[in-house]
Amino acid sequence: AIDKKVDSVLALMTLEEKVGQMNQYNGFWEVTGPVPKDGAAALKYEHLKKGWVGSMLNVKGVKDVKALQKIAVEETRLGIPVIFGYDVIHGYKTISPIPLAEAASWDMEAIKKSAEIAAAEAAASGLNWTFAPMVDVSRDARWGRVMEGAGEDPYLNSQIAVARVKGFQGDFGEFNVAACVKHFAGYSFAESGRDYNTVDISNNTLHNIVLPPFKAALEAGALTFMNSFNELEGIPATGNPYLQREILKGQWNFKGFVVSDWGSLGEMVSHGYAKDLKEAAERAANAGSDMDMESYGYVAHLTALVREGKVSEDKIDDAVRRILRVKFTLGLFDNPYKYCDETREQQTIGKKEFQDGVLDMAKKSIVLLKNDNNLLPLKKEGLKIAVIGALANDKTSPLGSWRIGADDGTAVSVLEGLQNYKGNRISYAKGADVAIGQTVFASETHINTTDKSGFTEAISTAKGADVVIMVLGEHGLQTGEGRSRASLDLPGVQQELLEEVYKVNSNIVLVLNNGRPLTIPWAAQHIPAIVEGWQLGTQSGNAIAQVLYGDYNPSGKLPMSFPKSVGQLPLYYNHKSTGRPGNGQPTESVFWSHYIDEQNAPLYPFGYGLSYSKFEYSNFKISASSFGKGGNITVSVDVKNISNVDGKEVVQLYIRDLVGSVTRPVKELKGFELTEIKAGQTKTVTFTINEKTIEFYTANNKWEAEPGDFKVYVGTNSDTRTELPFSYITN
Ligand code: IFM
Repeated sequence: AIDKKVDSVLALMTLEEKVGQMNQYNGFWEVTGPVPKDGAAALKYEHLKKGWVGSMLNVKGVKDVKALQKIAVEETRLGIPVIFGYDVIHGYKTISPIPLAEAASWDMEAIKKSAEIAAAEAAASGLNWTFAPMVDVSRDARWGRVMEGAGEDPYLNSQIAVARVKGFQGDFGEFNVAACVKHFAGYSFAESGRDYNTVDISNNTLHNIVLPPFKAALEAGALTFMNSFNELEGIPATGNPYLQREILKGQWNFKGFVVSDWGSLGEMVSHGYAKDLKEAAERAANAGSDMDMESYGYVAHLTALVREGKVSEDKIDDAVRRILRVKFTLGLFDNPYKYCDETREQQTIGKKEFQDGVLDMAKKSIVLLKNDNNLLPLKKEGLKIAVIGALANDKTSPLGSWRIGADDGTAVSVLEGLQNYKGNRISYAKGADVAIGQTVFASETHINTTDKSGFTEAISTAKGADVVIMVLGEHGLQTGEGRSRASLDLPGVQQELLEEVYKVNSNIVLVLNNGRPLTIPWAAQHIPAIVEGWQLGTQSGNAIAQVLYGDYNPSGKLPMSFPKSVGQLPLYYNHKSTGRPGNGQPTESVFWSHYIDEQNAPLYPFGYGLSYSKFEYSNFKISASSFGKGGNITVSVDVKNISNVDGKEVVQLYIRDLVGSVTRPVKELKGFELTEIKAGQTKTVTFTINEKTIEFYTANNKWEAEPGDFKVYVGTNSDTRTELPFSYITN
């Protein structure tokens, strides 16, 4: 039915109006103020009135959205509504943990709920479309945008992509927004982790590692995709027909539209793939980029390119159909002001229920990395606690990167969270700043401070305390887009501060605030308790305090390996074996795949995380030693909570395919179950293995299950050695 409506609109459109639908502008003028008279704003305004703007980004708030929508609906010839996009990455005003932190929860219901909250607030603010989820599988923590995804594993990324798409889109009601799956594809493989750098990966990696989460998101119904800044096989993704036409729209039969990344169409000139903006527009349109974000390439040149026969009108029609289909699906044709209700906006944003929701998500995202002698949880009374670190008293950093709708200073700091518990005596000292400044777009957050003038106060505060809580890590704006790092140590003088405080009081709980894995080998060796507190959003401090005091028993597991040193990167558990694996052990000779100055193993592996409970795995069983076509086997394991605290455990299932038509990873996550286990209780967790579990992109260039021998593992993290053999037999 929608297709008929789409065609009926398309039939009325001139070529210019069609091209207009493929044009997206950033809105930067005072929308409800005087009409812009000159410059880019005036041009955009004029184009909007002509019906040459299909979408806008970064216009938000009912008043502004309504004002622009009114122009589109009432002043253009056909009155086609504009779709309004915005980066609602982990919340709009009420901020959830950064996506990498949410991934550490391994809790799909909670992640879906978090996306629902983000969508509800954004939709109430006039927005129809979020540029999320980012599903780039990330193996290199130097890349700042690892904070925006779900880490290093394609299976976990896929599950989370589905949860987020469903959470954002729901049933396309007034509290939902369209999702945009990004960045298609390969962006996270930027060489040496430097943002926007060249990507050069094999087709095997593309299909087996990069693409699965995109496919999962598409199957979950994602309405739109965003392509990416990088090149792949020497062809920028925006101009890449293999990615967009052959795979996405061909093999996968995607019916929605693809938006370019900001300016990525024009950047094909810098890549050396187009001689000018016109040629870039030609290449992008032919390759299947349906909408141009802020390059001005389509609006300036596409009409001429069609008239010159360089781009067929069929391709334009296809792109416009896709865009109109999304607008119809969202209900914008039925009611262009569907998202423009001022009362709803006031009643929805910042609701108590949303604050509770992001607090719940934040607690679930925390990972307990170390807890010697059960230093945690802390007693609620009678302690003298020293809290140290600039990040402990920061109400902006916990909001993290990519939270452009939120206001600075709106997070609960760790210090505030701790102060909500009244039974202990708390003293605070900053010790040292993390960086020299904290603005969003300037590079001040990148410049580490060398100022140690606060050390003396920090040391004397720590001296008499029963326990020292040190909150160290990266400022929220030291991660994210354009914030790649060449060192993953604690920025600035924080490592020195930690070591100085340790000299006078070693009873330290280190709370990390960071947007990516850090290299903390000294802390891992010396500090008795370490809590991974990421950047947890608006309710950050409350979540951390509740975990430190044991009102919440942590169950998070790392979605990315923590390296011992930056030289190990890229580092990921699902690596290949190589011809000289050395079986992970030092050998007599040097001629095996290793470093002479570092181990191969991570500091903390993928899937790792402790709890205040203790879990014991036993009775690992497999229902049969083999299965055939259409068949399956099950594996089960008993997990007992041998402590006296109720807790939750993420039971993980991995497989290894011993021999393949192309080499296979040493381990691959294929299932997990987050399960609550009461003190003293035993739970049996069962997984099914079938052809779907073992299939991969083979030497035949297709997804299939190859017969052969496998190992299956279960355990508490990816380093598990608990294994059983099985085979898949086809004759
Ligand atoms: O959505 C983002 C993208 O991830 C990076 N470039 C800008 C886009 C829109 O803000």
